[in-house]
Amino acid sequence: MATDPNGPMYYNGIYHLFYQYNPKGAVWGNIVWAHSVSKDMVNWEALEPAIYPSESFDINGCWSGSATVLPENKPVIFYTGIDPNQYQVQNYAVPENLSDPYLRKWVKPADNPIVVADETMNKTAFRDPTTAWKIGGHWRMVVASRRKQRGMAYLYRSRDFRKWIKAKHPLHSVPNTGMFECADFFPVSLSGDTGLDNSAFGPNVKHVLKVSLDLTRYEYYTIGSYFPEARDKYVVGKGFVDGWNGLRFDYGNFYASKTFFDPSKNRRILWGWTNESDAAQDDAQKGWAGLQAIPRKVWLDPSGKQLLQWPIEEIETLRGQNVQLSNQELKSGEHIEVKGITAAQVDVDITFSIPNLDKAEPFDPSWTNAQDLCGLKGSTVQGGVGPFGLLTLASEKLEEYTPVFFRVFTGLYKHVVLLCSDSGSSSLRKEGLYKPSFAGFVDVDLDDTYKISLRTLIDHSVVESFGAGGKTCITSRVYPLVAVFDDAHLFVFNNGTETITADVEAWSMAKPDKMNN
Ligand code: FRU
Repeated sequence: MATDPNGPMYYNGIYHLFYQYNPKGAVWGNIVWAHSVSKDMVNWEALEPAIYPSESFDINGCWSGSATVLPENKPVIFYTGIDPNQYQVQNYAVPENLSDPYLRKWVKPADNPIVVADETMNKTAFRDPTTAWKIGGHWRMVVASRRKQRGMAYLYRSRDFRKWIKAKHPLHSVPNTGMFECADFFPVSLSGDTGLDNSAFGPNVKHVLKVSLDLTRYEYYTIGSYFPEARDKYVVGKGFVDGWNGLRFDYGNFYASKTFFDPSKNRRILWGWTNESDAAQDDAQKGWAGLQAIPRKVWLDPSGKQLLQWPIEEIETLRGQNVQLSNQELKSGEHIEVKGITAAQVDVDITFSIPNLDKAEPFDPSWTNAQDLCGLKGSTVQGGVGPFGLLTLASEKLEEYTPVFFRVFTGLYKHVVLLCSDSGSSSLRKEGLYKPSFAGFVDVDLDDTYKISLRTLIDHSVVESFGAGGKTCITSRVYPLVAVFDDAHLFVFNNGTETITADVEAWSMAKPDKMNN
């Protein structure tokens, strides 16, 4: 089984991705750092595990962590080791041979562990060190934890990268969230989509803190101001919600994510784990479980109110056969097939135009939970403006389909837009599948444009959607029985009373290859 992405980095022309991996089966356990390398993050070569239990400080598992490329171009990995007492301790590892282009072998210096929980802390809930950043003479890093049910992001400082001292104040903490896992803290630029090195700091920079919440299995992030010279205070920006109702990178099946700065293209890239939604027996049978979502570029929306995400441009090298539907009218109740592509493996990009917003249903302010609302108003429940969108991985007669769709409501001040990715009818299989209707609100001003876009990448059991240019993203895992391979179809649909039009472009997607082919 593969789970969390670990230590993503770019080093001397090669992208490295490590991930939590069980070499002994398609269930969680026996955790090592598996290792893959790539020149483009599309075509990969799997190497031998880079870090595996070998010392007392990691004998019971090598859990999640991050990479930092030091200024002298020397990579260092931080990871959590599980020690003989089952305590979680933070270790480091360095490449054995910097001239091996793939950095296959990693060594664990004898001064490990470098950080352990003190007596005031929870020794069995203290893990997932971040990439380090340096401001002034000090390096910093964060380790995620909890104190009772309060999520904690402990901050550590070091001058020499070896001796780390806990700061008096955590970088951040939030009551009642439960354990923080896989914290990620990184700068974003206030202008444009260029990414920043983790140590970047200045007037044009905001900071993002993301945590994965074990209790809900969702992640959330806040955007705020970081004051390294004032006790390393992180102040959450006005209007951001801290906790379970906060913003998410992805409103679906996406967890334990981690970003890194890619200096070769000056961008920040997000990796996330998407878990199976089938049963453990299925995973045992197919021999694998868990995958990494398509890497996404992340940057700050010009509004400053949220992040934007977009599949890395390299994914477009897999595009093949292309079809277009221009200005396609979709009347109430219509669905139209997008023909001529391999619907089981396809990249679709649509812009919907909404001529008239007058008939949008009124928004009830008590609908605060997008997922509940999507459960209430699914793709077959007629509305005024919407539901409209895609029927992905659909069988010809629609016994199976995974709809990804918008629904527009009239709110008090502006229109409220909902994006849903509903796996409720994704499979005729009745037992053993988790079929949630994932959803998120989309912060757009339809009154300005009367247009909204949807990009969806479909790959057999994975449906990854990017609403409104990457404002709201949802990943679903689905397991159709009929709508597979050549029997999978793709439709655009409209179940609103108002006619809308769609401009659709779709590409059959090729399979990636090995790195050097
Ligand atoms: C998140 C997580 C991490 C931990 C790892 C263990 O999925 O629980 O907190 O380091 O998985 O595999």
